[in-house]
Amino acid sequence: MFTKAAEMIISSKRCIAFTGAGISVESGIPPFRGKNGLWNKYDPENFDISYFTRFPEKSWQIIKELFFDLFGNVKPNAAHYALAELEQRNLLHGIITQNVDSLHHEAGSKVVHEFHGSFRKLVCLKCDDKINTDRVNLDKLPPLCEKCNGILKPDAVFFGESIPEPAHSKSFFEADKADLFILVGTTGEVAPANMIPKIAKHEGAQIIEINTEKSAYTDSVTDIFLQGKATIMMENLMEEIDEIQK
Ligand code: APR
Repeated sequence: MFTKAAEMIISSKRCIAFTGAGISVESGIPPFRGKNGLWNKYDPENFDISYFTRFPEKSWQIIKELFFDLFGNVKPNAAHYALAELEQRNLLHGIITQNVDSLHHEAGSKVVHEFHGSFRKLVCLKCDDKINTDRVNLDKLPPLCEKCNGILKPDAVFFGESIPEPAHSKSFFEADKADLFILVGTTGEVAPANMIPKIAKHEGAQIIEINTEKSAYTDSVTDIFLQGKATIMMENLMEEIDEIQK
């Protein structure tokens, strides 16, 4: 399976990775769903745009606790670095990620389409101004825009918000053009992100999937299912690629 997957990656013309929360679990960020999923502990309503605009202070308390205090200083793991290495070797054309943790950037990946945005910036709900999160004092919540005193919101996509450009169009472009997708750590449960691997398959791409358990893709679009932790599966894959390219 690893040899077959490695051969597919080496012979692909345009290979794209599609990642979800599972790739960051071994960096210490729990997934959203599954046994110790975040949505079992935190109400996803806090990340719904209508709730946020009505109760910005309450929503920000959860956001700060979760994405800044708990996960503020997590680091990329071997799976993030392996994808960055594949890009270095021109074996990976880019990453479409549903994650907002910026770990692909930190691992050195250059082409990263952040389908759900990220927490690197905050955006003003009133004047749309964007500011780097690390320049904002989060001791007082909700943080306010220096320009117009409007409420600042993380530049991540909340439930009920639209997918940002250019991530949206670039991701669907790749779904049309890529001949190989590597899915890593996603349940495939959230639209419209979850359509991308299905469109890719429909357009003739082959699908390699890495996940600790079956997902919505495994029995429908996946050609090679590498069941296991992302770090171990990606390291095995890199070893196979090195073996073949020796
Ligand atoms: N290695 C590989 N896969 C793993 C690992 C691991 N170490 N740990 C968990 N997984 C898998 C789980 O089996 C599951 O399929 O990662 C997936 C995590 O699923 P979700 O938590 O649903 O994450 P994701 O699919 O990215 O969610 C999509 O939902 O709440 C929204 O915006 C949020 O981007 C997120 C979207």
